[in-house]
Amino acid sequence: MYTPTSPWWKRTVFYQIYPRSFLDTNGDGIGDLQGIISKLDYLRDLGIGAIWLSPVYTSPNNDYGYDIADYYTINPEYGTLDDMKRLIREAKSRGIRIVMDVAMNHTSSQHKWFQASRDPSSPYRDFYIWKKPQKGLFGRELPPNNWTSVFSGSAWQKDEISGEYYLHLFTKEQPDLNYRNPRVLEEIEKVLNFWLDLGVAGFRCDVFNLLHKSTFRDGRFNFTGGGREYYSSVRGLNGIIKKLHADVFGPRHAFTVGETFGTPSARQAKKFTAGDEVDTIFTFDMNISGLTLEPGAKRLKRATLKWQHILDWNTIFIENHDQNRAVSIFGNDTLYRNESAKMLAVFVLTLRGTPFIYQGQEIGMTNVTYKHMEETKDPMVPMVYRMIRGFRLPRFVAEPIALFLGRDHARTPMQWTDEAHAGFSTTEPWLAENPNYTSINVAQNLRDETSIYHFYRRLIALRSRIPALVDGTIRFKRERSWVLHYTRYLGNKHYAVVMNLSAKPQKVRGKVRGEVVMTNYSRTELDGRLLLEPYEAIIYKK
Ligand code: GLC
Ligand code: CA
Repeated sequence: MYTPTSPWWKRTVFYQIYPRSFLDTNGDGIGDLQGIISKLDYLRDLGIGAIWLSPVYTSPNNDYGYDIADYYTINPEYGTLDDMKRLIREAKSRGIRIVMDVAMNHTSSQHKWFQASRDPSSPYRDFYIWKKPQKGLFGRELPPNNWTSVFSGSAWQKDEISGEYYLHLFTKEQPDLNYRNPRVLEEIEKVLNFWLDLGVAGFRCDVFNLLHKSTFRDGRFNFTGGGREYYSSVRGLNGIIKKLHADVFGPRHAFTVGETFGTPSARQAKKFTAGDEVDTIFTFDMNISGLTLEPGAKRLKRATLKWQHILDWNTIFIENHDQNRAVSIFGNDTLYRNESAKMLAVFVLTLRGTPFIYQGQEIGMTNVTYKHMEETKDPMVPMVYRMIRGFRLPRFVAEPIALFLGRDHARTPMQWTDEAHAGFSTTEPWLAENPNYTSINVAQNLRDETSIYHFYRRLIALRSRIPALVDGTIRFKRERSWVLHYTRYLGNKHYAVVMNLSAKPQKVRGKVRGEVVMTNYSRTELDGRLLLEPYEAIIYKK
């Protein structure tokens, strides 16, 4: 008998919930904690062991919860602290842990620290990053430097009270905290301990690699903006994360996954996950819904080979609340939606690392065909639109790009049934549902044994039954560009996975022999030459 020695978070499959869009139980069009509680059985049946909960703290929702106004209270739209305690308890009784999302690079501009900070004589002044303006030509006033917000435009906002500017790497309603001030770290540690005391299992640390700004000089400027080299994964950051680990994560056995903004170097990524900072990271060259000519599936393969090689253990994910839907980007959401969604399930659940599934991925939810910016809610959409228009490009170019990059594709209400509003709510949801809910929904998936949902369910069960799929080392075969082929080794147990990342049949190199364990087609035998069907994926025992 093989006894796994790996920590729980390597054996668990995580499920991300974007609470605003999960399930509305009180008819206000906004998902809530009661909605999550009522679907815990659904998640347990799927085989989920932990939930990453996108922010539910009090927030004015300029960035839908990623602008936190109070780390200690629940946004009344979602419920109360008692509901939250109940969620933690009810989840626990089903063997599901809760991981909180903590945005600690910035707060909301409504946070009382920031309100106090606007007064230059306040003891909170130093909680944020305030700088004097620069003098430009003819005495014109300029922001302190040329850094740009991640969502476009200057990263500085002038405050009339002092005439100084504060830094905001995201929207101007999200002022950056100043981690050079040790009191900030102290306060954040209090927040983390508060939630651990309530029984959460750990944290997803929002853009954790931006906490330290190395200097405030002008940055190199390019199309995507300026200043990144002075605030993204810079020297000085590691000390901050190490302290959080030494003070909180380590002693309290909290699981952590750090979201890296941009792509860290291999060296940085290894340092982050060496054991004294965070347990795992999310890196994005893997799946960012960026503007590139390289087909999605090729990008996915390239980034996968790269990161599986760099890190011994990584997160495996293809969706979250910031990305386009995977089946629309890496798969095929029309002709082969069913096949490609299942192929992507095999991808997420058999590579070496901790799998994260995003709500709706398990039923193959797709992107939305947005036509006008007015249909969207993401604050990034108008910001990106303005930036492109700033380059003097016409509206008919700017609007589709902004709509494509916008994050609402992933945030439409969870499609539970084919009834009005997708069974998400009894009223108009805060963001319109994807009209395809009449055919793509949970109820239909539950009824059909061959559905994407049941495929995920069986695959998750398989992963927990076969230790090689968790702890096994991984080796990739050299393959044609649309084929991904690897083996997981543990003792004398070898499981291999081969998949076609395209809508055309693909030949696999060499001969393939083994016993089919699971597949998204009905192939039962592997006896030599193998021609894969569109998006075919096979797990086989060697
Ligand atoms: C992360 C979040 C994103 C948010 C940003 C600022 O990237 O995932 O939704 O807008 O941080 O907090
Ligand atoms: Ca509600």
